[in-house]
Amino acid sequence: MLTELKRYVDWSTADEAALRTLYPLLKPRFPEIVTIFYDRILEHEEARAALVGGESQVGHLKVTMTQWLEALFSGPWDDAYYEQRARIGRMHVRIALPQHYMFAAMNVLRRELDTTLSEQASLSGSERTTARTALGRILDLELAIMLHTYREDLLAQRARAERLATFGQMAASIGHELRNPLGVIETSLFLLRSRVQNDERANRQVERIGQQVGIASGIITGLLELVRDKPLTKEEVRLDQVIENAVALVQKPLGLNLHVEGIDTLPRILGDAGQLRQAFTNLIENAIQAAATDAPAVWVVGTVVDGRALISVEDNGAGVDASILSRLFEPLITTKSSGTGLGLSLVQRIAERHGGTVEYAPRERGARFVVALPIA
Ligand code: HEM
Repeated sequence: MLTELKRYVDWSTADEAALRTLYPLLKPRFPEIVTIFYDRILEHEEARAALVGGESQVGHLKVTMTQWLEALFSGPWDDAYYEQRARIGRMHVRIALPQHYMFAAMNVLRRELDTTLSEQASLSGSERTTARTALGRILDLELAIMLHTYREDLLAQRARAERLATFGQMAASIGHELRNPLGVIETSLFLLRSRVQNDERANRQVERIGQQVGIASGIITGLLELVRDKPLTKEEVRLDQVIENAVALVQKPLGLNLHVEGIDTLPRILGDAGQLRQAFTNLIENAIQAAATDAPAVWVVGTVVDGRALISVEDNGAGVDASILSRLFEPLITTKSSGTGLGLSLVQRIAERHGGTVEYAPRERGARFVVALPIA
């Protein structure tokens, strides 16, 4: 991708040399340019909405923006550079920053850097022309990388939607078809129960059938939940209560160390309490099942970072196998012998419906899933 983009803008080693020459000349103006950059965003009501973390976030972004400018002029403009820039692009995608602001924002940088370049008396006319060309090319490259990450995200979303649609149609029709025979089994079991009351062995078998029918019904409900794009019933939700309810709902094996920390610091958000509880129940259940067998431990930790409520659910098990990491949130992907592989897909859908995300991060020992929810 980088090679292709460089070819398109006609990038050469002369551009690299010109940018490196410019670096010490323009560097003293970086703080001012960065201030202008964020002032423009803050002046604009809709663009400002992206800076949900307020003043403290702007303070942090000013530091990272200065580093961004330093790398812009010092390179090396290699694959690692591309990856780093694409990572920043993906951050913008994640906060759903509309693409049109990227053009306007890049133009602010272009104009300020270009003005500063024009003021450099130490450069000859031809040096200035070469430097201006190099500056134009690198900023075009940057914009292209940023826009590319939006496209990547869009394609990934579309592929996921298509997969879910196909999967959904099939799952919904099989689910409905299975509901009827399961209903018949349940009714027959009800009748059988009274007949076998005095036969202990037969009674046990009837109970087992009943349990298994319950599990099968649960799987079907899960499938139908996943494919039915259930609209949110939005209300003011206390996240601490939602998490407490989820913790209360899950089955806790003997000897489990369950730590719940920091959730009372979580703010109220606008959301669907039922769906959020379902998401946390799934995550906590998964963590309990994945926790180490010798001394099982699970942590549920709440924090607030940059205007988002972060809830991490962690365990001390073996962590997620690298072979399924990239498909972890896809439906039907599971490593559990009795799992349906729907739990994490559902968590992701619920988080996304709330404008949030769920991400996996390995721990030194075990797995960590972090749900990030925007604070309205
Ligand atoms: C040319 C345009 C832009 C450049 C070069 C740029 C640069 C950056 C950089 C370097 C970061 C990473 C900070 C880190 O590592 O923590 C970042 C993140 C961010 N940028 Fe931009 N940015 C641009 C446009 C914008 C605009 C127009 C907005 C808002 C209107 C914006 C809002 C944000 C926010 C909110 C984050 C933090 C995301 C997060 O922490 O999840 N950016 N940007």
